[in-house]
Amino acid sequence: MSLILGIESSCDETAAAVVRDGFEVLSSAVASQIAVHAKLGGVVPELAAREHLKALDPVVSEALSSAGVTANDIDCVAVTQGPGLIPALLVGLSYAKGLSSNLKVPLVGVNHFMAHIYGAFLDTGMEELTDPAGYPMLALVVSGGHTSLVLVSSDGSARQLGCTIDDAAGEALDKGSKLLELGYPGGPVISRISENGNPQAFNFPRPLTGGAGKALAPEHRYNFSFSGIKTALLYHTRNHGGKENFSDELLNDTVASYQMAVVDTLVRKTMLAAKDFNVKQIVLAGGVACNKLLRSMISGRAPKNVKVRIAPPKYCTDNAAMVGGIGFHSFKKGEFISHDADSFARLPGIVKVPFLG
Ligand code: KG4
Ligand code: ZN
Repeated sequence: MSLILGIESSCDETAAAVVRDGFEVLSSAVASQIAVHAKLGGVVPELAAREHLKALDPVVSEALSSAGVTANDIDCVAVTQGPGLIPALLVGLSYAKGLSSNLKVPLVGVNHFMAHIYGAFLDTGMEELTDPAGYPMLALVVSGGHTSLVLVSSDGSARQLGCTIDDAAGEALDKGSKLLELGYPGGPVISRISENGNPQAFNFPRPLTGGAGKALAPEHRYNFSFSGIKTALLYHTRNHGGKENFSDELLNDTVASYQMAVVDTLVRKTMLAAKDFNVKQIVLAGGVACNKLLRSMISGRAPKNVKVRIAPPKYCTDNAAMVGGIGFHSFKKGEFISHDADSFARLPGIVKVPFLG
């Protein structure tokens, strides 16, 4: 039996969790900085770092006490090493180095992007995760920083089929919300307002899907682009006399149609890749995977013989349970990082996932 303490600080949530043997989440504590960044309309990296510094100790204490364990019971510290905001990552990594050194336990560096994929398996257990009937698996990772399709084989070999060439899907929702002065983060607000609007009212573009009379370029078959949708929203708003002149109905219809354009694009691309690679399972993960419309459309449009696995909402947005969970697999393999390891900002090339093979 191994207890892993996961620590997450890649963006604007400070999180710690205690996870037993990769799947049993004994605690998952998250301190959100949303209130701090909301005033500024987005995440300010240096400010995030300062907030992590304040929050880490109490969050780790909370994770340990709600798990009913002490620091001395921990077998390994797993920490998000990247990708993310460097000032924010550095705080978590330095803290984790200190802790692992004090406790004399190994330190595991976790790839945040992979951890999001793992979040969809936290509640399932090893058997489900390794069941060959679920492979090849296609993962759509959609967050504030990423929009990628990753193909994973049962032996753990993996490759990124495509990603966004400009904004991430979450960024498109956050920026759309900012443009319409609806607040930060935009995803949850847009989702809520959309419930009162008509998603077919306006036809926002579905970039790189081969629509609007434009053939889909082969090199962009699995890529995404969301900056055009955002520009279309800007012109739409201007054409209707500016946000201040929107009726409630126009606002609701605009937001619902905007959300539909983002979600429809994500789902179309996912289904294209799922068919092309004859996948057996589709996994949906990352903060935007909280979105109700996306969850229902991925399930609704997936071919009948394809299993759809969607991360539970509590493991979609940033959390440390996914870090402690995936970290267990590196711990088991003895893949530790040294105390002079650095954080990394960008997603490295994907060749394998750490939780298989
Ligand atoms: O995974 P995450 O917490 O952080 C990153 O790694 O980026 O994702 C944050 C993103 C934000 O863009 C936020 O607007 C979006 O997830 N999000 C949502 C919802 N909840 C959070 N997007 C759509 N619908 C939601 N319900
Ligand atoms: Zn994330």
